[in-house]
Amino acid sequence: MEIMMNKVMVGDSIELIRKLQDASVDLILSDIPYGIGLDDWDVLHANTNSAYGGKSPAQDKAGAVFKKRGKPINGWSEADKKIPYEYQEWCSTWANEWLRVLKPGGSVFIFAGRRYAHRCICALEDAGFNFRDMLGWTRPKAVHRAQRLSVVYDRRGDQKSADFWDGWRIGNLKPTFEPIIWAFKPYKITIADNVLEHKLGAYNQDKFEQYFGGKDNIFECGMAAGESGLHPAQKPIKLIEALIDLVTIPGQLVVDPFAGSGTTLAAAKSLGRYYIGFENDERYAEIAQKRLHGL
Ligand SMILES: C[S@@+](CC[C@H](N)C(=O)[O-])C[C@H]1O[C@@H](n2cnc3c(N)ncnc32)[C@H](O)[C@@H]1O
Repeated sequence: MEIMMNKVMVGDSIELIRKLQDASVDLILSDIPYGIGLDDWDVLHANTNSAYGGKSPAQDKAGAVFKKRGKPINGWSEADKKIPYEYQEWCSTWANEWLRVLKPGGSVFIFAGRRYAHRCICALEDAGFNFRDMLGWTRPKAVHRAQRLSVVYDRRGDQKSADFWDGWRIGNLKPTFEPIIWAFKPYKITIADNVLEHKLGAYNQDKFEQYFGGKDNIFECGMAAGESGLHPAQKPIKLIEALIDLVTIPGQLVVDPFAGSGTTLAAAKSLGRYYIGFENDERYAEIAQKRLHGL
């Protein structure tokens, strides 16, 4: 399959990226699978034990969200403990190629989830990337699913424990923060010369301030009215536009190897950048294509 500019290519990202030329890409911006079992595409490990792959009535009720995730109350096994390392190994299957296709000074922005982002950073560093910063995106609204412990004991008929542990929960605090990894391909000349040669390496603070009213590396952004519903992991287009404007100029090439509903590609198109997306699920690739045609 020949890679085409301004298209979503249906196929395996790890295969398709090999077809891009060395030093041909200005920015890779991707919301990669997180390895936390959010959906079928988010299971990246060989763990087949029932605690991880199991289903509970609560999971059924939650619909598409976390349909593959087991619960810690089922107990963790040796296979569960390998999941983080397997996630890092998976990141290493594409990190070298991402480095190869980027121009010197070119950035990667990766939404990798809170739990295994550190594994992704290690894979990037091992491949030769320089880790620049961890940006903090906060959401005005976040779904909080931490289960009340007293409810578990209530169901067991253990009133004494239910009373003692009243107010305690299983899981996480409300997940309003998401990390965005920012790394770049090292350059061999000075940064000022690299900017002149490749138009990459610096960042546009003035543009960024127009989006979020400040230069902080923590910023809030929610979905605009009517924007959601295209993908369970869909990101706000304003957030992606801000990141594209932060490190590129019009006419440069943005690649999203895990494109989903095409948010990165739509943002790139509306900002006058070239774009290429890879997505192995035909349903999402079609949604992305339609979205791009409508712009
Ligand atoms: C986190 S989602 C991206 C959602 C996107 N940010 C949006 O706004 O719609 C990651 C996407 O990667 C796709 N994917 C997972 N593994 C893939 C692979 N090996 N090759 C291509 N796409 C893959 C999944 O189908 C999923 O749609």
